Amino acid sequence: MKKVKIVGGAPLEGKVEIAGAKNAALPCLAAALLTDEPITLHNIPQVTDVSTTLKLLGHLGATATFSSPRTIEVSLPKIKSYIAPYEMVKTMRASVLVLGPLLSRHGYALVSLPGGCAIGARPIDLHLEGLSKLGARIELKHGYVEASCRRLKGAEIYMDTVTVTGTENLLMASIRAEGDTVLKNCALEPEVTDLANLLVKMGAQIEGIGTSILKVRGVDRLHSAAHTIIPDRIEAGTYIMAGALSGRELEIEGCNPQHLVALTDKLLQAGANLRVEGDSIWVRGGNKLNPVDVKTSPYPGFPTDMQAQFMTLMTQAEGVSIITETIFENRFLHVAELDRMGARIKIDNHSAVIMGGTRLSGARVMATDLRASASLILGGLVASGETVVERVYHLDRGYERIEEKLKKVGAKIERIDDD
Ligand code: UD1
Repeated sequence: MKKVKIVGGAPLEGKVEIAGAKNAALPCLAAALLTDEPITLHNIPQVTDVSTTLKLLGHLGATATFSSPRTIEVSLPKIKSYIAPYEMVKTMRASVLVLGPLLSRHGYALVSLPGGCAIGARPIDLHLEGLSKLGARIELKHGYVEASCRRLKGAEIYMDTVTVTGTENLLMASIRAEGDTVLKNCALEPEVTDLANLLVKMGAQIEGIGTSILKVRGVDRLHSAAHTIIPDRIEAGTYIMAGALSGRELEIEGCNPQHLVALTDKLLQAGANLRVEGDSIWVRGGNKLNPVDVKTSPYPGFPTDMQAQFMTLMTQAEGVSIITETIFENRFLHVAELDRMGARIKIDNHSAVIMGGTRLSGARVMATDLRASASLILGGLVASGETVVERVYHLDRGYERIEEKLKKVGAKIERIDDD
């Protein structure tokens, strides 16, 4: 199994280019199921969650052709299977995004239930309730969701928790439904807006894009479209924090600073030296960092996907900070690993109390999920000596060639094989 080895303390300097957003690419790829005409997507990130999605789409009958490393054409003239099997869904929960489009286009889908994951139970009850309101018959059997309908019918749906993939699934399901659908309490994440913008290019009629109420007027068919995926704000945020921790001056290029305000505001409060210019954010390390408290919440709040990395940053602040996780119940798995590196963090229910100002020291640590892995990489960059992060397949799911990008700006980092 691959590992990443880092020798800490090297100052980072230069430019990091940000890839397309994984969490926008996945629903946009699933949207290709809604039409028999080809969909072209630019700025596709080279991460394994994208390969897993392409494998699943291939299983359903799609052909996918890369015309350049970041541009893909997905075409699905005829659906060959309606089944998203357990083997595929268990490796990536976002596979559940095929449920809405499959059902809408073909009236039937058999999709494995994703089950739990390292960061919590993560149910899909709101996806299923919404689909029932649109007229689908839903049955749960043998670990699968069986959903069927003649044609979905528009409805008013209120989601009582803000859910990103839930909003995306129901939006995709409603596009070809008969009549009008109103989705209330929708997720405001930029990735949801990106999907909605692609759907409009495909011929969908959606009002309220970017707000919590999406109004959809059903159409009979969708057509081909081309779309550029937005930049990955979580990848960008991770490199900004790397720069604040250890940089001379890093330029994070090709991001959308508007999508990063929750993070950059906190970093400025912490005393980090940041400058925004166009689609670049410059960060100069070396400033003394002050402790700041953070509470995760749906967009535009502080993203749960940046909580673990921010915690590593706070281990280097002079004082005590509190990070409260409100989205997922079990998202502090990185704490024990950071503590093994010398951090002093205590968990109190849904909060982590970080006694900052600790000198981290390199250790062998275990990645438990995608963003936890990133927090350990950040820890390794500032720790004294050598850190080895195991189970790096988690990182590859969402970070494009992270060690190459960090090496280019001066980090002493490499991927190594077992033993
Ligand atoms: C998406 C992101 C993930 C991010 C998360 C929260 C993708 C592919 N993944 O995950 O990176 O961490 O948003 O920003 O975009 N919930 C229910 N019932 C449901 C659905 C969700 O109770 O039917 C709860 C979840 O348990 C969680 C909360 O709602 O507590 C938010 O989860 P959700 O937004 O659905 O996360 P994902 O869409 O799975």
